[in-house]
Formats: sequence, C-alpha cells, structure tokens
Amino acid sequence: MTAVAPDPRLAERAVLRFPEGFRWGAATASYQIEGAAAEDGRTPSIWDTYARTPGRVFQGHSGDVACDHYHRYRDDVRLMAELGLGTYRFSVAWPRIKPDGSGPVNARGLDFYDRLVDELLSHGIEPMATLYHWDLPQVLEDRGGWTNRDTAYYLADLAAATVTRLGDRVATWTTLNEPWCSAFLGYGSGDHAPGRQDPVAALEAVHHLLLGHGLSVRALRAGGAREVSLTLNLACVRPDDPADPHDLAAVRHIDGLHNRIWLDAVLKGGYPQDMRALLARFGVDRRVEPGDEAVIASPIDLLGVNFYQPSRVRAGVGVTCGPANPGSEGCEYVPQDLPVTAMGWPVDATALYELLMRLSTDYPGTPLMITENGAAYDDVLVGDRVADADRIGYLDAHLRAVHAAVSEGADVRGYLAWSLLDNYEWAYGYGKRFGIVHVDYDTQRRTPKDSARWFTDVIGRNGLS
Ligand code: FCB
Repeated sequence: MTAVAPDPRLAERAVLRFPEGFRWGAATASYQIEGAAAEDGRTPSIWDTYARTPGRVFQGHSGDVACDHYHRYRDDVRLMAELGLGTYRFSVAWPRIKPDGSGPVNARGLDFYDRLVDELLSHGIEPMATLYHWDLPQVLEDRGGWTNRDTAYYLADLAAATVTRLGDRVATWTTLNEPWCSAFLGYGSGDHAPGRQDPVAALEAVHHLLLGHGLSVRALRAGGAREVSLTLNLACVRPDDPADPHDLAAVRHIDGLHNRIWLDAVLKGGYPQDMRALLARFGVDRRVEPGDEAVIASPIDLLGVNFYQPSRVRAGVGVTCGPANPGSEGCEYVPQDLPVTAMGWPVDATALYELLMRLSTDYPGTPLMITENGAAYDDVLVGDRVADADRIGYLDAHLRAVHAAVSEGADVRGYLAWSLLDNYEWAYGYGKRFGIVHVDYDTQRRTPKDSARWFTDVIGRNGLS
C-alpha cells in the first residue's frame, strides 16, 4: 500500500488554537531558585529557619544555593528567550528588600530585581512580579508572623517600596502566592514554614494574609501598577458519592476552606457565611475589624489560578481531613483511582476544566490566568537529554482542558508552566523535579527537557497539534 501524504488542511484543522494575545510563560519563586541566602544584606526567612530545623525538610536541604539564579539570572533569561517564553513570573524575596521585615529598604536587594527586570525586557519577556511567595522575614515571624495584624501592613510597605522601584517596567503584579498554603500548611499542619500547628493561628493567618493582600492592592495601584492580581491554589473538590447529602456537606466545608474563603472575600465583598461561622467557632472573628472586608475586596484585574490535582472527600464518623483543614471533623479525603505524579498527586485534567467553568459561573467578570501548572516526575538525564514524556502528557492534557474551558467562554488570558527550572520543592527539598529545564545541582548545568522543546512548539503555534 502506498502511504498517502496527510492533507495539510487536516493538520491545520486539528490544531487547537488559543486566543490571540494569550500569554505563555513559566513561573518560579525566590526561595526556590535564588540561593545567595546571605548576600547583599538578605536576612533569614522562615524557610531558612525551617530548613535548618532537624526533620522538617527532606535530607535537611535548604535554599542556601538552590539554582544559584541570583548569580546566573542572565543565563537563565537567555534560556527563557531561547525557549520562546513571553512571560516570566517570579517572586521577590522580602528579606532581601526589607531585611528587618518592616524597616528601611535595602537598595542592594532591590538592585537584583532591577537587573533581572531589565534583562527580561531586553529579551522581550514580560516580567510578572509576585510580592510574597512564602519567604517571610524570620524577624517578623518572631513577632507572630501572619498571626500578627501588623504583618499585613508590612506587606503593603513592601509593595510600595517594590512598585516604586520597578513599577515603571513591571506592569503585572501579584500580591500573594497561594495564601492557603501560607495559612493552613504554615500554621495549621506545620508542613510548611514556620511549622506551627494551631488552628486558631491558621485562621488568624487567613485573615491577615487577606488583609495584607487588600492593603497591597491599594499600595500597588497608588504606585502606578497597571495590572494587579492574586494567585490562589484553587481546588476542584468532588464528592465520593454525589447522591449522598453528607458527602456534599463535606465537599462544601473543604470547598469553603480552599476556595470560597478567599474568593468570596476578594471578589464578593466578604467572607461566606459558613466560613465566617468557622472563624467565630475558633474565636477569630474578633480579628475582623470594621472596614477590613472592604479593603480585602479592593478590585483586582486578574485572578491567578494554580492547579495541580483534584480532590475527593466523603463524610464519616470519627474522621477528619487533618490539621490543615480546621473544623473538618466528619470529613475525610478519599483516595482516587487515578495515575499519580512523583509527588503522589492524582492526575485528572478534567478537574481543571471543571474548576475554570465553575469560576466563570460563580465569579464572573474577573479575567483568569493559569499562573502555575505542572508535575514532578522521576526524570533521568541521559547524556544531554531528559525524555519526560509523562510531563508532556500532563501539560498537554491540562492545556486541552484550558482550551475546552476557553472555548466555552472561560476568560483565561494565559498559561504559565511550573516550573522553568527544577528547584527547591519546599519540604521535599531537591528530591522532586518540576522543571521543564533539568538542573544538575552539582554543576548548575541547565538542560532543557523534551517538555521544554515541546512547550516551545506550543508557544510558537499558540496552540496544540
Ligand atoms: C505550588 C507552589 C510552588 C511549587 C508548586 C509545586 O503550591 O506555589 O512554589 O511548590 O506548588
């Protein structure tokens, strides 16, 4: 049989195209890549302390050196340009910019971001700056951290100082990355720095993080920021048995903690009733002062969505969803019969589609952007190649889900892969690799994985084949 050459018009039709102007890029975070932990006036963050506490982080790994991006940023930006990235989402290290947490600005700390931003712009890459991706100055934690209302005001001071220096070149700003993790993993389960285990502290942190967000939105706008956003790790929470009202009540509670407590406060003008009742149950409603909810609801221009995995819950007697979920007595997470990543996280891209459609229905009018999505796999570097077909499969499936949601009207403006580089994966240290670029931590050699090459093609055609 003679092979028939494929009709190019068919290939053309098979391409799933994203809207004109869709923003493509990758994300990182300061503590995960910078290193240079004690340079140019930087003081320790809560993650430096946590990493040094025995038993907290895999093999005691710390971010002291990480990807040495602080010294190698020029090469890293060149690599981003080679990969065709149009947007780069990074975070600033609070203890570089304000070593005393609340005191004077350290110009040398800001100088680094100034150089980074210029380097990005000179390569045609749009910088997107996040103020807080978890590296709170330890000096502030010593004064209560996010359980202390003052921290919210100090975040707004950081916002003002940073936008004053970079606002002429950085158009898009994000206040917080995943405050759910800061509050509930940092102060509830203790799986993240500062490692506290106290439901009251976790709920206080929720309110102060949100207050800090609102105050920072205002500070950023006053400093001329053009596009202001918040990034949440939103969950698609499914019931074990959709016909069981108890399971549905369990879903509602977990959905409240992961999604509505943040979304309603920011986009609907106040805490939802059930979450306000939860705050009251733990005595934290006292922390909500008159006017706070109006500050928290200061308008934003973009909602960042970080998505990794779906969750499934059911109701049961004598169970809980654990200390990261205050008030979850009678609810439990159930295992899902799905393939998993190296993190053990279940993979199901339809959950991202459902989440985007739900956001479009319940919180219309706010443009969305996928500010993190990706997966860790046990990559193997052979010569100068990492054949990470599983990561390509993950990214491809999630991009198809985004495309489907966009086709049905979800206002998604862009997609950023997590992460540009393999990096310090918090309590997992360097043991988990999320990068589309492999990092050899002995030599700091960067090697784009097959997924990076694949992503370059996706960006180039603004779509999927
Ligand atoms: C997100 C974090 C990011 C990274 C990915 C895997 O929760 O924002 O720093 O750790 O997970």
